[in-house]
Amino acid sequence: PHPVIIDCDPGHDDALALLMLGKSKELNLLGVTVCAGNQTLDKTVFNTLRILTLAGMTPRVAAGARKPLSNKITPVSDIMGESGLDGATLPEPALAVEALSAVELIADLLRQSEDKVTLIATGPLTNVATFLIGWPSLHAKIERIVLMGGGTFGNVSPVAEFNFHTDPVAADIVFQSGTPIVMSGLDVTYQALIFEDEIEQIRKLESPVSIATADMLSYYLQHIVQKGYSKEGAHLHDPCTIAWLLAPDLFTIEPAYIMVETFNGYCLGASVIDYYGKLSGKPCNAEVMTTINRIGFVDLIKDRIACY
Ligand code: BDR
Ligand code: CA
Repeated sequence: PHPVIIDCDPGHDDALALLMLGKSKELNLLGVTVCAGNQTLDKTVFNTLRILTLAGMTPRVAAGARKPLSNKITPVSDIMGESGLDGATLPEPALAVEALSAVELIADLLRQSEDKVTLIATGPLTNVATFLIGWPSLHAKIERIVLMGGGTFGNVSPVAEFNFHTDPVAADIVFQSGTPIVMSGLDVTYQALIFEDEIEQIRKLESPVSIATADMLSYYLQHIVQKGYSKEGAHLHDPCTIAWLLAPDLFTIEPAYIMVETFNGYCLGASVIDYYGKLSGKPCNAEVMTTINRIGFVDLIKDRIACY
């Protein structure tokens, strides 16, 4: 199995990404690091530990930075609730974070791994960027970074996506790092919808994990629709990263040169996507997911949750 580390900020869709990882034998989850994003760090850490406990997963876990390198944390309580993961009854954590920091854990795991490791990032890129700056000698141990963020349109401003907007400088550092990147941005995640009847199919799997998953997703869907982010269907942003690793044939990807706007004006956090580097003349620094086989994606999620 291919070794992976995930940096996340659960968050309903991050939680589903973690649950998928729990039943992905193709991937060897070395560790989980936590960033602030959907909620404050204390809450995203607590949520991570509750989800891992629910899933019976025991990876190494470490907490990252409380604050972004730039901009600020703006909790998405309107969609995810005050806890950052409202809607389901989750167990109290049966595991704890280690004393070392997220970046130290990433360094530790990369050093120990014989094979190159894929970093999955489903929150603001604060920890990942800090790691890339601090440990240049370990870049060679990174197979690639598969991240959720960016897009040709926005969800927190007309042009900026939440993860990039929360820490634009971090996103910029990651794209300029020279590390291979696969980007799951809003262009693909707005196609990655799950509908009410599909959530109910997950509930009918009748395990504690499937019921908690359905409760979480149904809360998330209800608030997304209520707030007008979608007419029907909830965007499963973060699970696209895991799905791409498990079943890349579900997606089409295109190479591009990506720049992230760090100037604090109308376009803060926007990702400028120059497909094939045609207009900038720059060498591509990422591959961008552009389309998804939605039915296949939801089937994959159902299959993995059915393994609990
Ligand atoms: C991203 O922002 C968060 O709210 C989600 O967890 C996802 O990572 C979507 O813009
Ligand atoms: Ca997230």
